Amino acid sequence: MAETWQHIPILAEEIADLLLQNKSGYYLDGTLGLGGHTKIFLSKLDSNAKILGLDKDSQAIKFAINKVADKRLIARQASYLEAATILKELNWPLLDGALFDLGLSSYQLDDASRGFSFLKSGPLDMRFDNTKGATAADLVNTLPADKLEYIFKTYGEEHNSKKIALAICQARRESPIKTTTDLKNLVEKYIPRFGKTHQATRIFQALRIAVNEELEAVAKAPKILENIIKPGGRAAFLTFHSTEDRIIKQTFKEMENTGYWRLVNKKLIKPSFEEIKNNSRSRSAGLRIIERVL
Ligand SMILES: C[S@@+](CC[C@H](N)C(=O)[O-])C[C@H]1O[C@@H](n2cnc3c(N)ncnc32)[C@H](O)[C@@H]1O
Repeated sequence: MAETWQHIPILAEEIADLLLQNKSGYYLDGTLGLGGHTKIFLSKLDSNAKILGLDKDSQAIKFAINKVADKRLIARQASYLEAATILKELNWPLLDGALFDLGLSSYQLDDASRGFSFLKSGPLDMRFDNTKGATAADLVNTLPADKLEYIFKTYGEEHNSKKIALAICQARRESPIKTTTDLKNLVEKYIPRFGKTHQATRIFQALRIAVNEELEAVAKAPKILENIIKPGGRAAFLTFHSTEDRIIKQTFKEMENTGYWRLVNKKLIKPSFEEIKNNSRSRSAGLRIIERVL
């Protein structure tokens, strides 16, 4: 299984062009995944450059180290929110650049045992770091209906959020919702399917965001950047849905207003038609980059 895991890095050439301004610089890959972006970055950097790769997922770290196989990569299992502390421990200077490729990786989606996908039957887990914290099953079996409704509405932009929240509360009284299939069947029963997208897509996305507190982490981005990026350095954020992008856009605007940061691109950078054709996952991606001026 592990050997076949893959994840095609999105907008990799564009990010490398805009981020890697110093060929012998220090960089952060805050969401290392399988190391797809990092591998490409290292191929463009000099022998004395360095990249710190962080991921909450210990399996990702293991596989990225093997796949990248390069001493210039230092990898750690940690949230990108801990980047400043780890950089201090490593005694590294402020960084030339950082990448945050948000959300989940295709290998996590493909692994049934992680519970991210309604296309595969597995435990309803969805934690990036599966050693701690509440699982998706914990949330659907314990949260009150109004909390579930909020999650589906806010993180999944689901129109039937109240209906499905109430249906979950009713169903779990009979027996707990334990697997991805349990939840998928329930969603299919209560939400009609319109168009190409399966009706469970938004529900699963919303739960994943809630389980991993993804938007809370994204919203803390400026605090991270102030402490890790050097003047002239840049940070790139690759987002995959409108709520995530809105947070980054708004946060960048506030940072620009301080006079310490400038937007590298005013308009969201989108993958080309060619890239979307070769990698359908890239179709919802958007890139924003900010530079520290002072
Ligand atoms: C889209 S993938 C990254 C793929 C990577 N750029 C590549 O090319 O292989 C996102 C990764 O970020 C990790 N992740 C999500 N939130 C995180 C956080 N707050 N801190 C660290 N890693 C996180 C996930 O576990 C996942 O492996």
